[in-house]
Amino acid sequence: MRFPIALWAFSVALLTAAGARAQIQEGPPAWAYPVNPPNFQRAPDDGTIRHVPDSAAGFTLTQLRDLFAAPDWHPDDHPSMPEIVARGRKPEVFACGVCHRADGPGGPENASLFGLSAEYIIQQSTEFKTGLRTNSVPRIATDLMIKSSKAMTDQELGKAAAYFASIKPRSTIAVVETEVVPKTQVRDLFLAPLDGTEKEPIGQRIIEIPENVEHFVSRDSRVRFIAYVPIGSVQKGRTLAANSDPRVQCGICHGADLNGTTIAPGIASRSPTYLFRQLYDFKSGARKGANSELMKPVVENLSIDDMIALVAFAASLKH
Ligand code: HEC
Ligand code: HEC
Repeated sequence: MRFPIALWAFSVALLTAAGARAQIQEGPPAWAYPVNPPNFQRAPDDGTIRHVPDSAAGFTLTQLRDLFAAPDWHPDDHPSMPEIVARGRKPEVFACGVCHRADGPGGPENASLFGLSAEYIIQQSTEFKTGLRTNSVPRIATDLMIKSSKAMTDQELGKAAAYFASIKPRSTIAVVETEVVPKTQVRDLFLAPLDGTEKEPIGQRIIEIPENVEHFVSRDSRVRFIAYVPIGSVQKGRTLAANSDPRVQCGICHGADLNGTTIAPGIASRSPTYLFRQLYDFKSGARKGANSELMKPVVENLSIDDMIALVAFAASLKH
């Protein structure tokens, strides 16, 4: 009886590998790599001074779209920004604080930086620069990140890294399991609910949207997000994360609470859309920096559904 059991185990392994490969051959899911529709046009600036709650500041859309001036809605939330974070350096180092926001919470279209170590921030920015880190689908936001990383000096990067590493991370995401989600459209590289109350089945997707789209457009650093995930994702992710193989068990490298160690960055309470892109990019080979080797055995057998479950679980944890 030994042989058939071994054979059975072997075929299961083969089938699982084939399943995982088939999944990745489906291509990168559009919800994780949103691309603007072909006829997309940004809303023109009508000159209105925009505001967000609990801030005395005000900016026009044109000011908010300036890649060399990070809007500082809540100066009391963070130490004073280094020049490179607040203004960047013309012509090609865009201000980190524009995209990642003044104190580093980021959004689903980029990444949170607060709570990461300075060493990790430097390493990743360097890998964007040397081409070891890209996305499986070319994205304008990442292209601008790459451009900035190529033009910045080591000293500038050091200052930005020390700044974001000094900020205590806070949770900005509520993970909600659901069968139906608001209908969304891609609006300037992010998912926004359509006007009205139309709903649709979630399917195998994560739909992560700002609680207040207008405040998000104003790049308010205090904006919160709702991440809708399929029913059962969080528990499934918790089980997958606890894999008995030490090369795969998330907590061994990312820490028991997934808030990071000296080996690996924190993944708790971060944008599940961002985290999903990373798992997918490790698997597709688009992200292949020096330490990504440790993530290879992790993603090897993950299907898209498994990735959704894992990142839903990670995002549901607290900082
Ligand atoms: C134009 C927008 C933009 C600007 C400006 C920008 N970034 Fe980014 N950054 C991104 C995007 C987009 C990603 C995520 C790419 C992805 O999804 O894989 C990113 C990712 C990162 C990461 C990886 C985080 C992680 O957890 O691995 C680091 C570190 C980073 N940026 C640092 C910086 C620093 C430092 C600056 C300023 C010198 C900066 N960025 C300026 C868009 C930007
Ligand atoms: C053996 C160690 C190890 C294990 C186990 C491990 N990771 Fe990682 N992980 C890393 C390292 C190291 C990095 C940083 C890779 C790099 O520098 O490119 C990383 C990066 C990541 C990132 C990207 C984070 C960012 O800021 O961009 C995600 C998401 C991630 N891991 C998820 C997981 C999940 C989910 C599991 C469990 C299923 C897991 N990891 C298990 C070592 C590990």
